[in-house]
Order: sequence, then C-alpha cells, then structure tokens
Amino acid sequence: MQKINIAIDGYSSCGKSTLARQLAEKLNYIYIDSGAMYRAITLHALQSGWLHDDGFEREKLIAALPHIDVRFARTPEQDKAVIHLNGKPVEHLIREMRVSARVSEVAAVPEVRAKLVELQRDMAREKGVVMDGRDIGTNVLPDAHLKLFMTADPMVRAERRYSELKEKGMQVSLDEVHRNLLQRDEEDSNRAVNPLRQAEDAVVIDNTNLTLEGQFQKALNLVEETTRAA
Ligand code: CDP
Repeated sequence: MQKINIAIDGYSSCGKSTLARQLAEKLNYIYIDSGAMYRAITLHALQSGWLHDDGFEREKLIAALPHIDVRFARTPEQDKAVIHLNGKPVEHLIREMRVSARVSEVAAVPEVRAKLVELQRDMAREKGVVMDGRDIGTNVLPDAHLKLFMTADPMVRAERRYSELKEKGMQVSLDEVHRNLLQRDEEDSNRAVNPLRQAEDAVVIDNTNLTLEGQFQKALNLVEETTRAA
C-alpha cells in the first residue's frame, strides 16, 4: 500500500501525540513529535543559563544553534527512538514544567524554527510519517495527504495532562497545568512566524467527548480513505 504523510496539529495537551503514536504503530509509520524538538532546544537554553526569570538571552541561543544537536535515536534500553539533545536522551527532562513554561517563547524565535523545520522536512521526505505539532499542516508539510486538527475543552485537556505528569512522578498542580496550556495556546496562536492555525484542508477532531478508541477509529478511517485516493 502506498505510504502517505499525516500532519496532526492542534492546541496544547489535546492528545495529538497519543493519536499520532497509535497511528504510527498501526500503520508501521515513523512518528515524529515536533514539540519534543522545541522542548529540547528550550532545555538547552535553560541548562546554559540563557533563560532568566526576567528575560531571555536569545542572541546567545541563536549563535549556538549550529552546534546544538537535536535528533531522535534509539537508546540501548529502549526499542523506540527517543529525543536526544547533544547525544543524551532527554525525554523525561523536556516534560518538566520549567520547560513547558518557556517553550513557546523559544519556539517563537525564527532562527529556532528555521533549524527545526528543515530537520522535520528531511525526516518526512520518504513518506510514511505521522508528525504532530502546531504548524505541520500549514508550514512544515503543506502537501501532507491527510491533515488533522485536534481540539478539546481546555479543562478536560488540563486534567488529562495533569494525570500524565503525576503518573511520571512530577510535582505539579492542576491549576498550574491549566494556566500553562492556556498561555501556550495564546502565545502559539499569536506569534509572528508560523503561528498555530488550522489548515484549510484539515479535518477537525474535537475529542472532548471521544474515547481514545473512538478517536483512533475515526482517524484510521480517514487514513484509509485518503490512502485509497492517493
Ligand atoms: O504539551 P504539548 O504536547 O501540547 O506540546 P508539544 O507538542 O510538546 O509542544 C510544546 C511547544 O512547542 C508548543 O507549545 C509550541 O510552543 C512549540 N511547538 C511549535 O511551536 N511548533 C511545533 N510544530 C510544535 C511545537
């Protein structure tokens, strides 16, 4: 069967990565979590001391960009590819609230976007990719055969993300998670470069009242229809 590219965009914490992962597994496609790449660059800026309570030394980050290595790679312990920053696996660290609190600021820097978008397009060249993010259908892969735009009620999203973080053993409050996702939605939708937008040809999935299985079946039907027509 012919392979297609699938772009999944939408608001913070609305289950994009869960759906993308399920689809990739079912179809034997490669899943690319573009948000993890922005989070890894943000982690680097935090570790380098360029993000302060009252500012961001963006020029230092921009100057260092050619030397920051962000990639998905396997680890000896894990079978699947995970995000690496300068050769180290950082999946757990990038999910911390200190990264979530600053990632939209870093993702608004045009030089950061240019670097990551180029890497993302390279990874999708051979097709058979499910990529999730904010600008995949509009900017990274405007020719993707199938584009989904996901949304859900903000409080439902906050509760889901809060449970996820708690399960990972992180110290957070529901209120902090809720405020963070509203703030990121606002910053991601209003930035100058490649803001979060629904592509004109995207199919909207509001999963406020959908089960994971219901959402997956809906998306899988769309993939099958699209693949037949491709
Ligand atoms: O927390 P959630 O899973 O919703 O977000 P994420 O996919 O991990 O993305 C984290 C942040 O990276 C977003 O809030 C955006 O600021 C940025 N991002 C972006 O600007 N463009 C993308 N294609 C993906 C993420």
